[in-house]
Parts: sequence; C-alpha cells; structure tokens
Amino acid sequence: MDKLLIRGGRRLAGTVDISGAKNAALPELCAALLTSEPVTLLNVPRLQDVSTMLKLVGNMGVVAARDAATPTTVRLDARQLDKPEAPYELVKTMRASVLALGPLLARFGRATVSLPGGCAIGSRPVDQHIKGLQSMGAEIDVEHGYMVARVPGSGRLRGARITTDMVTVTGTENFMMAAALAQGETVLENAAQEPEIVDLAEMLIRMGARIEGHGSSRIRIQGVERLTGCTHRVVADRIEAGTFLCAVAAAGGKAVLRHGRADHLDAVIEKLRAAGASVDAGPDFIEVQSSGRLQAQSFRTTEYPGFPTDMQAQFMALNVIAQGSSKVTETIFENRFMHVNEMVRLGAKIQVDGKVAVVEGVPRLSGATVMATDLRASASLVIAGLVAEGQTIVDRIYHLDRGYDQMEIKLRGLGADIERIK
Ligand code: UD1
Repeated sequence: MDKLLIRGGRRLAGTVDISGAKNAALPELCAALLTSEPVTLLNVPRLQDVSTMLKLVGNMGVVAARDAATPTTVRLDARQLDKPEAPYELVKTMRASVLALGPLLARFGRATVSLPGGCAIGSRPVDQHIKGLQSMGAEIDVEHGYMVARVPGSGRLRGARITTDMVTVTGTENFMMAAALAQGETVLENAAQEPEIVDLAEMLIRMGARIEGHGSSRIRIQGVERLTGCTHRVVADRIEAGTFLCAVAAAGGKAVLRHGRADHLDAVIEKLRAAGASVDAGPDFIEVQSSGRLQAQSFRTTEYPGFPTDMQAQFMALNVIAQGSSKVTETIFENRFMHVNEMVRLGAKIQVDGKVAVVEGVPRLSGATVMATDLRASASLVIAGLVAEGQTIVDRIYHLDRGYDQMEIKLRGLGADIERIK
C-alpha cells in the first residue's frame, strides 16, 4: 500500500494547474450512457474514481478510453451497450456508481445497480434516488443487494414533480439525466445548486436536452425523444482548488492556481480572507498569499453555495495551527470527523461533540505516522503534515488517489518536500 512521506516546515510557492472536477466528470461519464452517439469529454482528471467509472461503463458494453496522447480526453461510445448493470464489486468502491441508474432506466427502460452499502463518512442511503425514479414510473425492487429497476409498459419514464426530503447532489443529477429522455416535463424542487450540477446540465443541453433553472433550487426539464453525442469540457475542480488554497494558507507562501474558479469557492475564500490570507482572482486563476499562522475561523458546512462539506477537513487543518479557537459544525454527513484523531496524533487540540468540533489552535504540530480514512480526510492530513515539524507519514493514501489528480507531484511543484513510498 502506498504512503506519503512529508518533511514539514517548507513554505509553498509557484504555480499549480487545477484539474477537471471529479464530481462533474463522474456524472458526465454516465451521461454518455444516454446516447448511441460518441461523446468526448475534455479535462477529465486522472484519478482512481474515474478509472472505476470507466471500468463500470466498459463492463456494460460501452467503448470508453482515455486518449493515448492526451489522457485528460476520454472518448465514450455507448452504441453497443448491452448489459445495463452495475455490479457490487465496482459499486462498493465508489458510491457515485448510483449515477448509472437514471441514464440506464431512461434509455433502456431497465437497469440493475448494486446498492452502495456502507461508507466511512456515514450511512449515505439512496432512498431519494429510488423514490424520485419511482415517481417517474419506474418499478424498483431490492433483490440480493441490487436495485432491480424497470419501466413497465412503454419502457419510457414519464415526467414528474420531484421534491426530495433533503438536497442531494447525485440525486439531482440522476433525475436530471433520467428526465432528459422522459416523456413530458419534470420539475425538480429542492434541487442541488452545485457548479457540478450546472456543468452536467450544460453538457446535457449540448446533447439536445431541454433544461432550465440549473444552478437554482428548481430545475425544469422537458423530455426529448433522443439525445446526440457531444464534446464537453469538465469544469475545474473547486475542491482541489480549495485544498491547495488551504495548503498554502496553512504552510505560508504564495501560489497561483491556474484554471481555479474563485466564483465557485466564495464561502471558502471569505473564510480564508477573514483568517488573514490574501486571495486575488481572475476568471481563470486564483492567487493566494499567506504568512503562515492565521486566525482561526469557525464555520458550518451546508449545501452550495454554503461552505462545502468536502472542504471541512482541509480547513480544519488550517484551524489546528491557527491563533485562537474555532467551532467547526458538520451538517451534511454524520461521521465526518475521522481526521480528528489523526490530527490529535500530530499535536492538535480538538474536542468533538456530535456534529461540532471545537479546535484550539496550537503554535506547532509534530510529525508522526497517521492513517488516511477517507478522501478529504487524507487531504487534510497531508496539509497538517506540510506544517508539522519533522517527518509525517500518511498511510493508506489510496483514499487520496481516488479523488486527487497527482497531488504529491503538484505539491512538489510548489516546493513541498513530499514523496510517495510504495
Ligand atoms: C455528493 C458528492 C460528495 C459530497 C456530497 C455533499 C459526488 C460524486 N459526490 O455526494 O463529494 O460530499 O455530494 O456535497 O458528487 N441522502 C439520503 N438519501 C439519499 C441521498 C442522500 O439520505 O437518497 C443524504 C446523505 O446521506 C447526506 C445528504 O443526503 O447526508 C447529502 O448527500 P448527497 O448530496 O446525496 O451526497 P452525494 O450526492 O452522495
């Protein structure tokens, strides 16, 4: 199992390129299932979850591969798709596999998709996905751990009004893709507003879908008979950009994040500025400068445009060595403080009570061996390691590889002393 070895204490400086967004690329790879024509995605990040998704659609009969010369370009052809199934072996490693359900049902009138099962950061059920697709006319039974879904009669989903109990990102994406080929109008109330939703909607519109209101809490979709192929560029990864912002803010230094989208990171940038970092931005870059030890900031995770749960751990790493104390409240997932015990091993002072972590800033951390437990927790431990005195080893970085495109290489480019040990 690979580990990262970090010798902390260096300031970061230079330029780093932000990759395409994992959470846009995954639904967009599934959107290619909606058409028998070729789809080309540009700016697809090189990370494990994308490889898993390519395997998943490949297993269905889709021809899907990265371009040999430009690996961030992926070509998909779902003309020969003959097995609308997502097996447990693939789904268990990546919950986003549930995104295959909507497109498969919409195009083929049937799909068999494994239930995702447990996940380190909480139970994460898919009841809303099931309920929404049922209201569009699907019959879904759970058999042997699988969602066995079919559309009786014509085999075509019909438009519906769907109000989810909570805001769900992949749920909204599943409904948007299913509705694009359904008969009649679908209205999604309480829809997620994340930039990845907007990016997926723009791709679907390129394919001929009729969608309005994406980026707001009410999305309207008029179903069409068929969708065409398209070429689409995946939006920049705001969480990767936010992670680098926190790394530079915590370690001190100055960096330019090329292709970073500041307008997708308002809540995080506001907190960074309040902490004392300077952040400037243009349409295609973000520049951050920090003296190192900033002022701790309290925050509360909420749906977009609020502070993202996917940035909670990384910002906590900054609070851990900031001046003053802070209160971090996690409202989206029930078990997303697993980085806390590992940070404590590095010398952090954190008390957790339910959804709230109280962090008392300390002047220094000291390197140790720590274990990554999930994707964003891993990133937060890397940031802590960059700041800690001496040597930190982050074990189990397969979590990091699931969602970051060459993170240690990018950090080395900024002057960090970090290497992968096999
Ligand atoms: C997506 C992101 C993930 C991010 C999360 C919240 C992708 C591939 N993943 O995950 O990185 O952390 O949004 O911003 O885009 N819920 C239910 N029933 C459902 C669906 C959701 O109870 O059927 C609950 C979840 O357990 C959670 C909350 O709703 O507490 C929000 O989850 P959701 O937005 O669906 O997260 P994902 O789409 O899985």
